[in-house]
Amino acid sequence: MAASGSGGGQRRLSTASNAALNQLASFELTLGGLESDVARISLSLSSDAGDDELGPLRADIAATHGAVEKLQMNNLDSVMTGHLVSGKVDAKGARKSLTQRAEALVSQLVTLNGAAANAAAAAAFAAANPASGAAAAPPAAPATAVAPALLPLNDGRGAIPQVGLGTFQATAAGEVKAAVKAAVEAGYRLIDCAAGYGNQREVGEAIAELVGAGVVAREELFVVSKLFQTHHAWEGDESRCHATLEQTLDELGLEYLDLYLIHWPFGFAESVLEKPLGTKQPLRLPDGSPNPIWTIKMEYLSTWRVLEQMQAAGKTRSIGVSNFTVAQLEHLMAETTVPPAVNQVELHPYFQQPEMVAFCAGHGIKVMGFSPLGSSADRAPPEHGTTLLKHPAVLAIAGEAGRSAGQVLIRYGIQRYPDSLVSIPKSSNAGRIAANFDVFGWELTEAQMAALEALDCGFRYFISYLKRPDNERLWHEGVIEGADSGL
Ligand SMILES: NC(=O)c1ccc[n+]([C@@H]2O[C@H](COP(=O)([O-])OP(=O)(O)OC[C@H]3O[C@@H](n4cnc5c(N)ncnc54)[C@H](OP(=O)(O)O)[C@@H]3O)[C@@H](O)[C@H]2O)c1
Repeated sequence: MAASGSGGGQRRLSTASNAALNQLASFELTLGGLESDVARISLSLSSDAGDDELGPLRADIAATHGAVEKLQMNNLDSVMTGHLVSGKVDAKGARKSLTQRAEALVSQLVTLNGAAANAAAAAAFAAANPASGAAAAPPAAPATAVAPALLPLNDGRGAIPQVGLGTFQATAAGEVKAAVKAAVEAGYRLIDCAAGYGNQREVGEAIAELVGAGVVAREELFVVSKLFQTHHAWEGDESRCHATLEQTLDELGLEYLDLYLIHWPFGFAESVLEKPLGTKQPLRLPDGSPNPIWTIKMEYLSTWRVLEQMQAAGKTRSIGVSNFTVAQLEHLMAETTVPPAVNQVELHPYFQQPEMVAFCAGHGIKVMGFSPLGSSADRAPPEHGTTLLKHPAVLAIAGEAGRSAGQVLIRYGIQRYPDSLVSIPKSSNAGRIAANFDVFGWELTEAQMAALEALDCGFRYFISYLKRPDNERLWHEGVIEGADSGL
């Protein structure tokens, strides 16, 4: 019996295999084969259920983990073996990758089944694998995970899933590839990429392998990328816009994107950040201010018109912007033909942006909220003195709700703005990837939401290149193209 899919969302276990899973006395995951070229995960099940009853469960696990080549299970001791890591691998890297796969499997079984016995097994696994980071995984979900909502886009070209995977700063070799695979296997369909993240080739490898193994179809995925500041249209030259989209499609191995964004509303004259050529120069000076070696100007109208052409040519289904202010959105819509489908901006309890969300909602523009967990920066607003993930109010709510701090922060955004906000948490940890996706089918209380809303202090974790040396304000805030911005 096949797993019951849910169109682009979380794969669920069939009723029959769920029943079999409920009869499991325990399960245990071990890692092996790290010295050889082929490593493997062993899954041992102890159950009173007969082979007939375990059959559907076996089929579901096989369907969910399409990359696993061989699967042998019987009612008492089952071993799952697959070429999960092949070629020459160093033992440390293999262990990390395998541990992530094992965590994803545990987390999936726990999430799908929710049985107390499995939660205990997951906790035991985390305790036995301290290096895996699984100790930071949240308590087991009390109920079956629910697929994210799909928010319709204003161009009539489909809908965007409300939770997706961020990929910024996932740049260690193999990191983003493993993350994308773990995410799609956990049910994610939206992947947020950018040329500027320097890791799209690996995202493409993951997509190719997932599609090749039948885990997901290309059409089920919603792949986002962004045009970097080095490739804005510049004084009539649109060729660099087309060149970077072609490179992005090549890196991702795709014929088309689902959404292409202008990453920031300004561009560099330089299409290569090397001056003289071959000599890398920093984007910022040591005090954080922009390096004056680069020529920067506010620019988005010409670039947007090129994105309109790209959409018409079928290179991307939808087009949008990122880091635009309300004034810039208004200006863009007044001067061009196609309104943006999305504005991707920083959004979390320290920086809640209700005016931006209201403006976008009024124009059918979806807001993709980045850094929902407060990014990875160890910075804190003076009002609170701590990062979001460590804030006592967030931790208290997590304790009350029986959820992780990460889940609380993601849930806050989509619950506050249920029709407008898409949340794109980044993680490279399979356990956290699965947990960050388990944010539907349960709610924070009104009091918990009010406590989170009270944290708003206008604090940005993410500062653009155009910040002032005091780190407090963006040069381009509210500045529209063509105005005397003083840049
Ligand atoms: N358009 C833009 O200009 C822009 C700017 C910034 C970001 N973005 C996009 O938005 C995405 C998300 O933003 P972000 O990467 O800045 O930050 P984020 O998603 O708020 O936080 C990521 C950090 O949180 C950790 N983490 C993830 N899940 C966790 C959990 N459940 N508990 C504790 N820690 C957890 C991650 O570490 P592990 O990986 O170890 O889990 C990582 O260090 C980016 O990846 C990118 O796709 C766009």
